[in-house]
Amino acid sequence: MYPSLKNKVSLITGAGAGIGYTLAEALLKAGGKVVLNDISPGLARASAKALDAKYPGRCLPFAGDAGSVAVIDTMLAFTLEEFGTLDFAVANAGLTKFGDFFDFTPEDFQKVLHVNLQGSFFLTQRAAQIMRKHQRGGRVLLMSSVTGIQCFPDLSAYSMTKAALQMMARNLVLALAPYKITINAVAPGATLTERTREEEPDYAGTWSILTPMGRVGTPADVTNTCLFLLSDQASHTTGQTLVVDGGWTAVGRSPKDLEPR
Ligand SMILES: NC(=O)c1ccc[n+]([C@@H]2O[C@H](COP(=O)([O-])OP(=O)(O)OC[C@H]3O[C@@H](n4cnc5c(N)ncnc54)[C@H](O)[C@@H]3O)[C@@H](O)[C@H]2O)c1
Repeated sequence: MYPSLKNKVSLITGAGAGIGYTLAEALLKAGGKVVLNDISPGLARASAKALDAKYPGRCLPFAGDAGSVAVIDTMLAFTLEEFGTLDFAVANAGLTKFGDFFDFTPEDFQKVLHVNLQGSFFLTQRAAQIMRKHQRGGRVLLMSSVTGIQCFPDLSAYSMTKAALQMMARNLVLALAPYKITINAVAPGATLTERTREEEPDYAGTWSILTPMGRVGTPADVTNTCLFLLSDQASHTTGQTLVVDGGWTAVGRSPKDLEPR
């Protein structure tokens, strides 16, 4: 669909499952090379192996905590060593911590900040340093969420970080545009992944009722938007957040919601 994705080297964090995995597969299918990161060494290995079987020699695992700056540096050095360059950095890893505001602990708050903000900020910084040095431009994608736009119960800390990522994408236009590096955020709505399936027994059913488009989102929906933002077709699109939620954030509650169905 996007010929420019061919031969491009990507690093995707939190890609052992869910949206990140689907994006990794799509980029490999488009002819790219991928370093697939996950905090679970078993999952990183197994997922990269499954993709390597389909796209030999173009997908390598890297296990480690994407919130750690030391891990980010080692992961980027590994990418350069193995694939020689870096075109796309995708800060996909995120920690979702539900909890009542009145009981939320400083420990949990720090954990959410560590992965969602520190990880995304320093992956962007370190990846952009490489892209600036190579003088070939580049793409940074941040994984935000609709909860960074609309209130969602028991997700205050998480939502704050997801809103911050949208501002990060806007603010860093100033730093990155001179080097032809674009930075955008994607804000998925309810998306059916291994994790969200566990959150609620009928996740797809519930969200198909709550979503104007009448169905839950899939990792492929989010991936399609990511592919556009990573492609040459999006070379003039930067500082934006693209929402992929079937219209959930577009509508507020209305008096009609009070009527019996
Ligand atoms: N699924 C959704 O409904 C949804 C909605 C909005 C936003 N998002 C965001 O999309 C991103 C991906 O979500 P998902 O639901 O596809 O995946 P997920 O939350 O299930 O996690 C995917 C992978 O990330 C790994 N991971 C977790 N912490 C990590 C860390 N510190 N370092 C490296 N890997 C780590 C996990 O082991 C897992 O295999 C997240 O940032 C999430 O906040 C998801």
